[in-house]
Amino acid sequence: MTDALPRETPETDAAAAWWRQAVVYQIYPRAFADADGDGIGDIPGILSRVDYLAALGVDAVWLSPFYPSALADGGYDVADYRDVDPRLGTLDDFDAMVAALHERGIRVVVDIVPNHTSDQHEWFQEALAAGRGSAARERYIFREGKGEGGVEPPTDWVSVFGGPAWERVEDGQWYFHHFAKEQPDLNWDLREVRDDFLKTLRFWSDRGVDGFRIDVAEMLAKDFSDPLPSREELALIPIDGNHPLSDRDEVHEIYAEWRALFNSYDPPRTAVAEAWVASHRVPRYASPESLGQAFNFDLLKASFDAGEFRRIVSDNLALAAESGSSSTWVLSNHDVVRHPTRYGIPADPAGSTAEVQHGGEWLRAGGDEALLDRERGTRRARAATLFMLGLPGSAYLYQGEELGLHEVVDIPADRHQDPWFFRTGGEEPGRDGCRVPLPWTTEGPSLGFGPGEPQLPQPAWFAQHAVSVQDGDPASTLSLYRRALALRHELQDGEQLAWHESGRADVLWFRRPNGWQVITNFGTEPFALSGDARILLSSDGATATEVPGETTVWLAPTS
Ligand code: GLC
Repeated sequence: MTDALPRETPETDAAAAWWRQAVVYQIYPRAFADADGDGIGDIPGILSRVDYLAALGVDAVWLSPFYPSALADGGYDVADYRDVDPRLGTLDDFDAMVAALHERGIRVVVDIVPNHTSDQHEWFQEALAAGRGSAARERYIFREGKGEGGVEPPTDWVSVFGGPAWERVEDGQWYFHHFAKEQPDLNWDLREVRDDFLKTLRFWSDRGVDGFRIDVAEMLAKDFSDPLPSREELALIPIDGNHPLSDRDEVHEIYAEWRALFNSYDPPRTAVAEAWVASHRVPRYASPESLGQAFNFDLLKASFDAGEFRRIVSDNLALAAESGSSSTWVLSNHDVVRHPTRYGIPADPAGSTAEVQHGGEWLRAGGDEALLDRERGTRRARAATLFMLGLPGSAYLYQGEELGLHEVVDIPADRHQDPWFFRTGGEEPGRDGCRVPLPWTTEGPSLGFGPGEPQLPQPAWFAQHAVSVQDGDPASTLSLYRRALALRHELQDGEQLAWHESGRADVLWFRRPNGWQVITNFGTEPFALSGDARILLSSDGATATEVPGETTVWLAPTS
């Protein structure tokens, strides 16, 4: 299975390209389905829902981390890369899940977190025990502190989740952590670290995993040579290949090795980079010599605005062409406020990307529900989703968006789990609001998520979104997603689109090579159709002569 196989035949080439136009459904395992009732979603839970995934019509699932973890960052603190967290199941359960998904034609992508381990990882425990100067400490980034007795951290850098980026250990040395202190950064200069990850990638590839999502792919390579810049100096260094901490050119030497490993499988294993880098740097990650595909988060950061959407689509199709990859599209994931909520809150006055990305001032100010127009947010979200699903490239969906779930904003302080919340003293609302366990039915202690209480409380309104409620309702968001995915399978064609001028700045209209057309009315005034249009699908109540405000329609080829 691991050896290189011939790849010349057309069938294998077609199989190898499955990812280019795939709809990939992100499962956040701890919040998807809980088979054993301990409140934490698990692999047997996923296994029990494979028919749901097949009926939804996704091509692949991507599983956020399910590895042993102390859950300091929802599993992105991995204690053992080659095992399943006992609370989530066993390797046998994993194999059974992969087999069941494959039987239904659904591929499996797993999350790899290479920038940092958990502080519970045996390497880190060894590093603590072995002391300064040891080979075990070399695997991480340990430094002496500053000031008398080394009591001050080596630099004044701040971690992504707030607070210092250095933590002091018992013997007085400090280690660097980009994220929470329970997530010490690895030293990727070390051959041993590189080899160990190759082993991990082989381990999962041999188990039949089809691809990998690479966590913070831009961060692995670092330059920690002295003198280290101050926080202020660091902020002035452009992130374009030579920044000490991010998006260094040599990170692709690591991925070239990974690519060789991926290509030794038939079909080659795929990889998608999570790299929050400048757009013009994305093709490096998406190139066939590197990871092969990269997330494009532009739609996720955009307002519901025709001009922004059009620019984003054109730019990203050009970037994909530059890299030789297909484009990717994302509206929601486990790190950001769900898109129906983003579209239902008043526009962010500062208009800043960071604000939109994390839910804006609204969420930070406590998420006043009175300011949230849920209905409008849902309507716009359905329109944005159909717009996205009409595009060439692969679309990444986040669990629960097919149920039209909004962000949960009233999680009690003592139930929060996100380190972002804790490390900022609650100032940052964090990401728990999009990680609440899914509602499957309207009853029981966790609305069908499992037989026990859920690990994060579900609000009462979740019941209205339950799968059981939406299942047979043709107007439900679940039905819309199912129909859209089924139709997309038939219609998806090539990797291009042509813009058709709609005559209105707030209406986007594009056509695919086979004549499939997508029209999104971002405005509130209805948009008139000529009357001979054949509507295949509408996000909300279009007729042959009119696309209402904040609505997308798919039109059949006219001939
Ligand atoms: C990525 C993940 C996020 C995690 C972080 C650290 O951005 O998507 O959830 O907290 O990396 O691993």
